[in-house]
Amino acid sequence: MIDVAGATKVYGELRVVDDVDLQLPRGGITSVIGPNGAGKSTLLSMMSRLLPMDGGTVTLEGHDVHRAPGDLLARRLATLRQDNHVTARLTVHDLVTFGRYPWSKGRPTVEDAEHVRRALEFLDLEPFAGRFLDELSGGQRQRAFVAMVLCQDTDYVLLDEPLNNLDLRHAAQMMRLLRRAADELGKTIVLVLHDINFAARWSDHVVAMRDGRVVHQGTPRQIIEPTVLRDVYGTEIAVHLLDGSPVAVYFG
Ligand SMILES: Nc1ncnc2c1ncn2[C@@H]1O[C@H](COP(=O)(O)OP(=O)(O)OP(=O)(O)O)[C@@H](O)[C@H]1O
Ligand SMILES: [Mg+2]
Repeated sequence: MIDVAGATKVYGELRVVDDVDLQLPRGGITSVIGPNGAGKSTLLSMMSRLLPMDGGTVTLEGHDVHRAPGDLLARRLATLRQDNHVTARLTVHDLVTFGRYPWSKGRPTVEDAEHVRRALEFLDLEPFAGRFLDELSGGQRQRAFVAMVLCQDTDYVLLDEPLNNLDLRHAAQMMRLLRRAADELGKTIVLVLHDINFAARWSDHVVAMRDGRVVHQGTPRQIIEPTVLRDVYGTEIAVHLLDGSPVAVYFG
């Protein structure tokens, strides 16, 4: 499990993540929702050691994430950032192969190549494998970064807005893929999502943040609910049940 205790990040006067406690059991999909600036990315970055903390601890199966040896951590936990910039001119194939680095140490084996092949296939990237990243559409590039993260083949996968730029079919395909990774491979997946209907449909657990705090958490039925959503987003959101699952309607 991931155990976040008292996680805090301060910029100037602003506590952008404010004493957050969060326990995520092993296995399943947790979605983190909440308005812009709520602290979602900051929290995820601290959970994956991309960002130092100003207070608190994050432990992954009892190991302090901020003190664990980097190569061990990279075999347990993979992270997709919200903004991915690469300056080097890389092909999709090179980028995805890079995801194997914690295992291959730069000398990919046949097994590593098979991981890369499967990731490219699952994310519909085979036609683009030889293209440079700056020769792709936004959604194709996003899928390439997700393929790299999945190729790392870690038990824990943290993805910040993985559906960014994806069309409806690829968004649903990505969520199905993550669901299978959780159900069949026992992976623990944490996502930041803005589309609360995707969160409702595919998550086991939903965590809602506002103003640097976790303000609600529970099942999709408990969180994708008008009173809770009004509290989180400060706006009226209607929720209907479709085959027993909540569907939010937010046209403004
Ligand atoms: N390097 C920084 N310096 C100062 N303030 C920052 C910095 N990074 C983030 N912040 C602030 O911290 C707060 C939380 O940012 P964060 O990126 O975690 O929000 P978020 O919930 O991921 O939002 P979004 O949905 O827009 O991605 C915001 O108010 C942001 O302006
Ligand atoms: Mg963010």
